[in-house]
Amino acid sequence: MSRVYNFSAGPAVLPEEVLKQAAAEMLDYNGCGMSINEMSHRSKTFDQVIQTAEQDIRDLMNIPDNYKVLFLQGGASQQFAAVPMNLMQNKKAAYIVTGQWAKKALAEAKKYGDAVEVASSADKTFSYIPDCSDLDIPEDADYVYICENNTIYGTKFKKLPNTKGHILVSDVSSCFLSEPVNVNDYGVIYGGVQKNVGPAGLVISIIREDLIRDDVPDFVPTMLKWKTQADNGSLYNTPNCWAIYMCGLVFKWLKSQGGLVEMKKRNEEKAAILYDFLDNSKMFKGTVRPEDRSLMNVPFVTDSDDLNAKFIAEATANGLVSLKGHRSVGGMRASIYNAMPKEGVQKLVDFMEAFEKNNG
Ligand SMILES: Cc1ncc(COP(=O)(O)O)c(C=O)c1O
Repeated sequence: MSRVYNFSAGPAVLPEEVLKQAAAEMLDYNGCGMSINEMSHRSKTFDQVIQTAEQDIRDLMNIPDNYKVLFLQGGASQQFAAVPMNLMQNKKAAYIVTGQWAKKALAEAKKYGDAVEVASSADKTFSYIPDCSDLDIPEDADYVYICENNTIYGTKFKKLPNTKGHILVSDVSSCFLSEPVNVNDYGVIYGGVQKNVGPAGLVISIIREDLIRDDVPDFVPTMLKWKTQADNGSLYNTPNCWAIYMCGLVFKWLKSQGGLVEMKKRNEEKAAILYDFLDNSKMFKGTVRPEDRSLMNVPFVTDSDDLNAKFIAEATANGLVSLKGHRSVGGMRASIYNAMPKEGVQKLVDFMEAFEKNNG
């Protein structure tokens, strides 16, 4: 068996211990004589899987009792629609546009109400986080929306926006469980799990209870109404049992490693190795304003498309894979999620250093 260092933005690297445990339990989960993939989602065994997963994410994130944790389908993109459908009482919302995902969420919200852009970093290809200390937020806005970590551009909100008393909704898909957060600062936190937590197709939404309402518009599909999912413990229909199980294993792994404080420490160390190199390299350059740099997604470029292509090809041949930047920006991007070991980042930097020497 030969595992590569996988820098994919998502689906992405998972902890090897978790993959091994899942493999070991594939034919016979916990003495049941069958796989998680084969058992009823209403069985006692699966009930324990989902209950344990919920308790573990509650412990990891210190989620207060007045927040529900929902395991939902449709990925993060489905929540682009669910958010306005469930929250737009006044049919008004304020969006901070820091990249493609926030832009898509805004476009979706516009289908249901008056969603306005109150800040943007589009003027510099989303390479920074705009000042959000005094935004012109409509007084009757139902919520303020951010994409907290911008997977494509490699920026991260280091300070949450001043919402002027409005509810904050945050898409944390690419920074989920990468560091401690104060859940009380948010009305809704949600993330597709396929970057830092588990297999694609599952989105976890953490929603303050008073925001889960029965009186949403009639047109809202039953499945997209948070109340349906909350009342049924995320089991209104057949959920993505496999993904919930895998996330549960990752939660246990995170706990065994020391939780989110330890993850933050490791993520800072890993990111520093790469950013320090980029800051000193003559060939490779980071594309993000330093104070807004993400710990998870690190985009970088050389000044030549040919050199970028050569680098990606040679890195791949050396077991450093999925380094191509998003199709909308080009260049390179290294995603260094929780499960990327420090040695992987060090190997990448060593390779970049050698490449620079050989091609300078
Ligand atoms: C920040 C962010 N939001 C949303 C999405 C979309 O997630 P999904 O594919 O689960 O809909 C992605 C990436 O896939 C992302 O990086």
